[in-house]
Amino acid sequence: VRQFKPGDEVYARPDKDRIGTFAEFIAVSDKDVSLKPKSISMEEAASLPLVGLTAWQALIGKAELKKGQRIFIQAGSGGVGTFAIQLAKHLGATVATSTSAANLDLVKSLGADIVIDYKKDDFEGMLKDYDVVLHSQDGKTMEKSMRILKKGGKLISISGPPDSDFAKEIGA
Ligand SMILES: NC(=O)c1ccc[n+]([C@@H]2O[C@H](COP(=O)([O-])OP(=O)(O)OC[C@H]3O[C@@H](n4cnc5c(N)ncnc54)[C@H](OP(=O)(O)O)[C@@H]3O)[C@@H](O)[C@H]2O)c1
Repeated sequence: VRQFKPGDEVYARPDKDRIGTFAEFIAVSDKDVSLKPKSISMEEAASLPLVGLTAWQALIGKAELKKGQRIFIQAGSGGVGTFAIQLAKHLGATVATSTSAANLDLVKSLGADIVIDYKKDDFEGMLKDYDVVLHSQDGKTMEKSMRILKKGGKLISISGPPDSDFAKEIGA
């Protein structure tokens, strides 16, 4: 290992075959580790890699979200959702999100443009012609989400079913 020295503050998302981060000590590849930004605490840093990578892979890697596009991020108040809203706004997208009433102000403070209380309102009747949906809920919600996409729009699911890349990865 050359890019770190003892005492460096680092954060990591260990490889998926190296799960075990409730342990006090864990051996991980240095390629899965980064220097922690000085502007955030260790606790804040610990919350970021998994949800950050999930949001990044979905919005940038898969959806290729662009400035001016419209995205519906389900569960905006959750771990993935809070990160995804901020990333989508940073990319210049318009963001609609669903949350319960208790978290309306939270998602607005993160930059969400349209906020839908999923316990009271039905997003299918409120959103139309979206470029991207970040899907994290059940199958029924996925079907409804398909209907708010414009032609050629993309639905990226992080709650299944698995995609063809994953099938290839495990040789299925
Ligand atoms: N964490 C990750 O990095 C990761 C990676 C891959 C996949 N996933 C999957 O992504 C999903 C979300 O993960 P998470 O870690 O973000 O979960 P989380 O932090 O536990 O958040 C779940 C959120 O779901 C919201 N919610 C519950 N029912 C909802 C509904 N019907 N419509 C819209 N929102 C609803 C809740 O909002 P309120 O509290 O406002 O009610 C809560 O904020 C899970 O299915 C998880 O398996 C997560």
